[in-house]
Amino acid sequence: MEKIPANIKHEIEKLVKDLNYHCYRYYVLDSPVISDEEYDKQYRHLKELEEKYNYVLPDSPTQRVGAPPLDRFEKVKHTEPMLSLDNAFSHDEVREFDERVKRFLKSDKDVEYTVEPKYDGLAMELTYRNGILIKASTRGDGVEGEDVTVNIKTIKAVPLKIEEVDAPEEIDIRGEIYMDIKEFETLNREREKEGGPAFANPRNAAAGAIRQLDSSITAKRKLHLACYGIGAAKGIAFKSQWEFIQWLKKSRFPVPSLIRRVTGADKVIEVIREIEEKRSTFPFEADGAVIKVNDFELQKSLGIKTREPRWATAYKFPAHQGITKINEIIASVGRTGTITPVAFLEPVRIGGVTVSRSTLHNWDEIGRKDIRVGDTVVVERAGDVIPHVVSVITEKRTGREKHFSPPKKCPVCGSAVERDEGGVAFRCIGLNCTAQVQQRIGHYVSRTAMDIEGLGEKNVELLYSRGLIKHFVDIYRLKKEDLLELPRYAEKSAQNLMDAIEKSKHTTLARFLYSLGILHVGEYAAKLLARNFEDIGDLYHVKPERIMEIKQMGEKIAGSIALFFDDPENIHTLRTLQSLGVKISNPDFSKEKEAKRPLEGLTFVITGTLPRPRNEIEELIEQNGGHASGSISKSTDYLLLGEDPGSKFKKAQSLGVKIISFDELAKMIEERA
Ligand code: IVH
Repeated sequence: MEKIPANIKHEIEKLVKDLNYHCYRYYVLDSPVISDEEYDKQYRHLKELEEKYNYVLPDSPTQRVGAPPLDRFEKVKHTEPMLSLDNAFSHDEVREFDERVKRFLKSDKDVEYTVEPKYDGLAMELTYRNGILIKASTRGDGVEGEDVTVNIKTIKAVPLKIEEVDAPEEIDIRGEIYMDIKEFETLNREREKEGGPAFANPRNAAAGAIRQLDSSITAKRKLHLACYGIGAAKGIAFKSQWEFIQWLKKSRFPVPSLIRRVTGADKVIEVIREIEEKRSTFPFEADGAVIKVNDFELQKSLGIKTREPRWATAYKFPAHQGITKINEIIASVGRTGTITPVAFLEPVRIGGVTVSRSTLHNWDEIGRKDIRVGDTVVVERAGDVIPHVVSVITEKRTGREKHFSPPKKCPVCGSAVERDEGGVAFRCIGLNCTAQVQQRIGHYVSRTAMDIEGLGEKNVELLYSRGLIKHFVDIYRLKKEDLLELPRYAEKSAQNLMDAIEKSKHTTLARFLYSLGILHVGEYAAKLLARNFEDIGDLYHVKPERIMEIKQMGEKIAGSIALFFDDPENIHTLRTLQSLGVKISNPDFSKEKEAKRPLEGLTFVITGTLPRPRNEIEELIEQNGGHASGSISKSTDYLLLGEDPGSKFKKAQSLGVKIISFDELAKMIEERA
């Protein structure tokens, strides 16, 4: 390790500061000022400097990743207990809360409150000592939580350091970790596609992500933070919630997306209405509004009753819930054969939408909630999420309700049903199951797969039922004349479909692999494969061990891929697709080549005038994994020599550093790539 020169130290410090600022622009303000590429470039440069000089600042963005998996979470005692909130279920109850506050304060003067959305996530305490994040802990039972620091550091909106203000000696900042509704839905879709159980709501998904012992999994789930409270603090004091929130904002903490300071119950209710109206436009799930007495002195005099403060309450939005009856439960078969129980309900209006079906997720869920056909149940619709059964109203049972067991045979094709090893999913093992085949075709043509426009679910069903498409291979055998005989197609729509099919024939390996619908292979896994295998043929009869050489590919997925490519019928399908004109390019593989980084580990210093602008050459070096440094030292590997060199030339000679020309550099990249 080299001793660190002052200028490098300064460079590292500046890079950390700059990168943290860009992280804040991107993840907190949602308005980046540099490109992702530029960020990555600076990040890589910082990482190299840190490694070379073994100088890593505690708030360096490189500290957000890379902690080895834990065995368990350590317990953490909160300095100040983390309280919960009393609830108000109507506007009248909000008025009663305000009355109670005034009564307790023995004042009839209107009280000032803050009102903000109640985030449906999980509460977190972030401890900063001298401005540096030293601990993040879950609420737990309020007195003692769990140390999830490494996981929390992966969340980009969490500041690793308090910036822009004089940091206090110590401060506990509290907030909610949550997952956006969109992210939650994407995650669930992926899990369902890959045969795993779905999360019931964004809160469970966020909690699941935080409770990972392996922080690299947390890093993949895009979590957010909204800060709204203060715990113990040394060396700083605030007068009010409002003042504290302003301080948080200034010091780059994310705060609730809407927060108002108002006086009196009427105004509080106005804000509650505003939040309720805007609720559906929030990217996150809000299940209410939190009302807090603004003044901290007043909060103190109001105090706590057992576990809830007297100075705050949570107004809960009327839940998007309804009560109805389960008329029937059916076992629905998905693309990969997963069998999901779906309840058909007596139609009921919930939050302006008629609900007549609800997923029951899986049989464990049915067992846990003891759901039976004929039961009266509470159904909930959260955000845009698929409605689900919350609970059974057992008092309404008549004794005629029937248990619904997992089918022994596939309800569609009659093939055997198997339970996933260790999983909760049941699966039809029939390869030619109609339900699976139709959905496989649907998946193959979908937007993120082969993207054949004009082949929606209804059309696939029609073409299938007419025997025109029995497998996605048949798509390329369709003739316009065949289409014109069908009720749904006229000259123009038939031509459009033929054109769309033709266009889809040029595709990438990543898309193509994803389209095949291999069990557990989602878009991301397909991309990883494409990066590592140049040609589809390279995957034929591939061994699982070879797949597992790819970082992030586990045993389960490798087994599934190997099984697929070992099946002669599948190989035949792939060859047929190619003979019917499907052309597969693989731009991802060449990218991987670049990523092979021929200059990995090498440091270059440039001097003199070169055939290309200096920043371009620096970029070339960096892109190929090398490091372009400004000053020459013993650890410099090469001096890149141009015309009219400066003093670096002499220094390089005296240090015995190898000297190369621009052409030699170009050759080096070419030869090693
Ligand atoms: S204040 C004593 N503000 O709600 C003050 N909590 O039911 C307690 N929550 O554990 C917290 N959004 O997880 C507060 N804007 C917000 C909130 C909020 C969500 C959660 C938090 C807390 C629970 C209490």
